[in-house]
Amino acid sequence: MAEIKTIGVLTSGGDAPGMNAAIRAVTRSAIYLGYRVVGVKRGYYGLVYNEFEELTSRSVSNIIQLGGTILKTARCKEFLSPEGRKAAYDNMTKAEIDALVVIGGNGSLSGARIFASEYNIPIVGLPGTIDNDLSNTDCTIGYDTALNTIVEAVDKIRDTATSHERLFFVEVMGHMAGYLALNGAIATGAEAAIIPEKETELDQLADLVSRGFRKSKNSAIVLVAENPATGGAIGLAERVKREFPEYDARVTILGHLQRGGSPTAADRILASRLGAEAITALRHGQRNIMIGIRNGEMAYVPFTKATSMSMSVKQSDIDLVKILSI
Ligand code: F6P
Repeated sequence: MAEIKTIGVLTSGGDAPGMNAAIRAVTRSAIYLGYRVVGVKRGYYGLVYNEFEELTSRSVSNIIQLGGTILKTARCKEFLSPEGRKAAYDNMTKAEIDALVVIGGNGSLSGARIFASEYNIPIVGLPGTIDNDLSNTDCTIGYDTALNTIVEAVDKIRDTATSHERLFFVEVMGHMAGYLALNGAIATGAEAAIIPEKETELDQLADLVSRGFRKSKNSAIVLVAENPATGGAIGLAERVKREFPEYDARVTILGHLQRGGSPTAADRILASRLGAEAITALRHGQRNIMIGIRNGEMAYVPFTKATSMSMSVKQSDIDLVKILSI
């Protein structure tokens, strides 16, 4: 195995609060152990188009508290093709980058998995996404902050929902995962969560209405995971207008505000621990794994297992929303 001298680091896909804390931890842990660190700008785009910058321990000063990512991020179409990945590999080789740390969500780590299967490069991934859609890790960097943003917003919506005795559909992000909607519902005392994981088994809107959700209460908030299949919050509100016109429904789409803001303490600590562990893992010859966290302990998860989407929301959490909203 070739000796690693220089480690590249990039952030890819949707940004997530805590990515900067992860970049800082990767950079400083690597420098502490004698490696050179190169920041790759705009995710895989920077690999394909040669956008590199040397990172020193001062380059990552004062960023632990910042949302977004100082390295910028992108969804790079070129990297989806073999030609794009070949260009990325050639550029990495020219820049003498011997190993890579990729911080991103399911799509980004799937890209890392494919790249690592084609070229002999040690790659370690860090779960960085608000969606929490990676398997074999208890949570991802950015998820806790996004959840807290949702809680703050929904608490405010509750005030007006109660005053006007209205039904609100609040749409949250999550790509194809319902964690933000479900745990957001538990944390805000919402009446229901409509999530993609249940979509094939149940007409969740009809189920909600059949439970008589609004009869004895003066407001109702339903957290809806974004989902093209149901049309999200707008689609459900339109259905309510057509099928249950007695309800006065309103829609709020939280959108990209969920991706911003200063990371919570939990996200900063998670990012710092995972970032440092990525360097330890590379130092010990590990490759093609994601560093996850399970029951408080670091876990080395092969890319195939991390991106398998085998995780699922807990039925007991779905039940909890129902039980606690009677
Ligand atoms: O993956 C993170 C995420 O915020 C998803 O929750 C959402 O579906 C998607 O990115 C939105 O992407 P974009 O910002 O590119 O529109």
